[in-house]
Amino acid sequence: MRFGIICAMQEELDEIINNVQLQFKSIVSIAGCDYQIYDYKQNEIIMLVCGIGKVNSASATQILICTFKPDYIVNVGVAGGLSIDLSFGDVVVATDLVQHDMDVRSFGIPLGQIPRLDTFSFACDKYLVNVAMQTSKADKYKLVSGRIASGDQFIDDKNRAEFIHNEFNAIACEMEGAAIAHVCYLNKVPFVVIRSLSDMAGIDGVAMHSFSELKEVSANNAAQIVLHILESV
Ligand code: ADE
Repeated sequence: MRFGIICAMQEELDEIINNVQLQFKSIVSIAGCDYQIYDYKQNEIIMLVCGIGKVNSASATQILICTFKPDYIVNVGVAGGLSIDLSFGDVVVATDLVQHDMDVRSFGIPLGQIPRLDTFSFACDKYLVNVAMQTSKADKYKLVSGRIASGDQFIDDKNRAEFIHNEFNAIACEMEGAAIAHVCYLNKVPFVVIRSLSDMAGIDGVAMHSFSELKEVSANNAAQIVLHILESV
């Protein structure tokens, strides 16, 4: 199998490289992004840091698909928690993703709906979700599945976080997943988004503070799930 693994930040990718015995093969640079090619057992893995936000992640995902034709794409990293049932380090495997900042309500289109697209949310591949949810190492933190909402905003405000949670029934927020999902949907490439909570998006009043302190620890939890997927698929 050929996997594409996309992280927004170098810190997130480092946790995977530190946890998986990869064999480096080569590197290809396109449009400001390094596509690092590794072997892992019988799999080939293309890993990249796409940068922050929906445009960076969408652009890199399309290049990944056109250039390397991966069988599966995994987006891994950190997120802000939107549910009081979750806490720092807990891992959310997305069932589906929405873009919370897509707003064409002026035309009577529901918030989050991308006009003229035949879906409201982008569903992750059920097989990849099931494999991710079976990770046995998940005993130090909660492993849950649910909807993730993405947008070009770092959410650190209680009202905004609660609005996204209530409006979309989303349990975590971040800035790339739904854009990657959108591009995968258009290209019919199976994908999954795995995010560990680095902060609570402001529902606890300390989003920024905990993000800086906890992002490596929580990215490590998400990396463990990726390792399980690579071992199992
Ligand atoms: N990534 C990690 N925490 C986040 C937050 N609170 N908002 C958006 N993206 C995030």
